[in-house]
Amino acid sequence: MAILSGELQNQLESIRQEALAELSAASDLRALEEVRIHFLGRKGKIKDLLKSLGSLPPDERPLVGAQVNRLHDEVELELNNTRINLEEKALEARLAGEKIDISLPGRDADIGAFHPVSLIIDEIASLFLRMGYDVYDDREIETDYYNFEALNFPADHPARDMQDTFFLDGGLLLRSHTSNGQIHYMENHKPPLKVIVPGRVYRRDSDPTHLPMFHQVEGLVVGKGVSMANLKWTLETMMKALFGPDSTLRLRPSFFPFTEPSAEVDMWFDTGNGQGRWLEMGGAGLVHPNVLLACQIDPEEWSGFAFGMGVERLAMIRYRVPDIRMFYENDVRVLEQFRGARRYSAFS
Ligand code: PHE
Repeated sequence: MAILSGELQNQLESIRQEALAELSAASDLRALEEVRIHFLGRKGKIKDLLKSLGSLPPDERPLVGAQVNRLHDEVELELNNTRINLEEKALEARLAGEKIDISLPGRDADIGAFHPVSLIIDEIASLFLRMGYDVYDDREIETDYYNFEALNFPADHPARDMQDTFFLDGGLLLRSHTSNGQIHYMENHKPPLKVIVPGRVYRRDSDPTHLPMFHQVEGLVVGKGVSMANLKWTLETMMKALFGPDSTLRLRPSFFPFTEPSAEVDMWFDTGNGQGRWLEMGGAGLVHPNVLLACQIDPEEWSGFAFGMGVERLAMIRYRVPDIRMFYENDVRVLEQFRGARRYSAFS
């Protein structure tokens, strides 16, 4: 039996030492993979040794081959052991990182706040419910008939230009005011009747004081002998309920196709230190006879008043918000100030 030459013996031993040293130095799975390639890979040191067998005398080859294979198996075994250790360590580290420390203080869940526009609509609805009104939630996608025609806007009448309307396909539009609710409600209710219609409306304008979407609250009362005096009292009652007994209201003559006479409603916006300005809140007037007729209500027998107020404008005064755009920037520093503000139950 041939004896391995001392030189080969030394070479095998030094590769073995080198491999074991690198394995024990490998600190993670990536380093380990490098060690594997270095020794066991297709171009690794042990593979090189096997390849060099061909240059040995034939009778030495089996013995040397067996020695190299043993070295290969030994390194492979050690590599696998190291891999298992490293994987265990990685798992432990991950678990340690994920451990929940139940002694830490809990995190506060933020409590949301109702939007000021919702708050003021609730307040208005609650007030009018107490005065015996219905609250009617009407549609936002509307036909020309309910947004204009039944409200006495003749086709091609310039009054239609007063409101820049968003038109949809199929002859539909986004309602430009809540006055559509007047018609739907009167089609389904006989006078005497009292209703408010709060909701979203849409117009094609956007500037510091106008938004393409905003809210109105429509009011409609039809009864016997309903007059401008009733309208003024109702508006004043609403203003005083919302803004206190000292709030001031101003009516200016105006024009709407669906009311006659018509008025613009202004509110005094007290900005503090005796300063302030008039803010236009909306329109109002006595229901035009043609509107009653469109709903099969006899204008000889019945009369009514209607108003339409800008809800954001009311909220500006109620909450002293100087810029209408603040309602829709969703800045939590603004909105969180309404946390805890009173929400009126619709029936309180
Ligand atoms: N619909 C009118 C507007 O949006 C407001 C209004 C409502 C005026 C009811 C009179 C009566 O400008």
